[in-house]
Amino acid sequence: MISIKSSREVEIMKESCQLAARTLNFIEKKLKVGMTTEEVNQLCHDFITDAGAYPSPLNYHGFPKSVCTSLNEVICHGIPSEKDVLKDGDLLNIDVTTFYKKFHGDTNRTFYIGNVSEEKKKLVRTTYECMMAGIGVCKPGARLGDVGAIIEEIAHDNGYSVVHEYCGHGIGREFHEDPQVLHYGKKGTGVELKPGMTFTIEPMINMGKRHCKLLKDDWTVITKDGKPSAQFEHTILITDDGYEILTLDPDGRQEPALD
Ligand code: MF3
Ligand code: CO
Ligand code: CO
Repeated sequence: MISIKSSREVEIMKESCQLAARTLNFIEKKLKVGMTTEEVNQLCHDFITDAGAYPSPLNYHGFPKSVCTSLNEVICHGIPSEKDVLKDGDLLNIDVTTFYKKFHGDTNRTFYIGNVSEEKKKLVRTTYECMMAGIGVCKPGARLGDVGAIIEEIAHDNGYSVVHEYCGHGIGREFHEDPQVLHYGKKGTGVELKPGMTFTIEPMINMGKRHCKLLKDDWTVITKDGKPSAQFEHTILITDDGYEILTLDPDGRQEPALD
């Protein structure tokens, strides 16, 4: 069942979404070589709880930390650890989900640590482009297959692959609601979008092949070929004539710095 949010619900949910985005702005300024992903986790945890919210990942199906930190070949669901030290040239995705006033807001960005190679930067920029293009086709009457198709097209045009096993999702009073939002697909197919739907678009794009592997910790997903992967995520609302990005940067920055 796909829930349709009322405008009152959307206003509250947007507060949660904006808090998630502000958490990313906050942590971005703290990132530096030598820091551990556990420190990232602790800083985000405190920022979220200080705002009166709960970090949705914590204890979600047993997830042990408050955010996901996915480095380089980690596709998603990386577990923050004191053993993971940020080093020059790394790509670090931080995925923040907040539960505030009974609604979840979910967003992630991939950050550059120190000096990142042009090859990796191109992957990150393309992944951002994929997410924004997917968002761009959203409006009442469009279909989820349109979203997947355009993401896949851009990824393939650049020689990259799209992860199939993990997808975007409806979101609201629950962290993961219907529908599933695949990042590949066929135009004109799938669920028809309607005003009041809220869901995430969060493509995971691999530099090499699309195949992934789940580590023994039962959470960390890595690329099978060991090549880097990048991801961006926004929570969006379908409006009467298009979409609104609920997790848009509250500091007024329209785009992350990816040069
Ligand atoms: N935030 C992730 C998503 O975008 C889900 C993380 S689930 C967790 O859907 F348990 F790993 F936190
Ligand atoms: Co999500
Ligand atoms: Co997320």
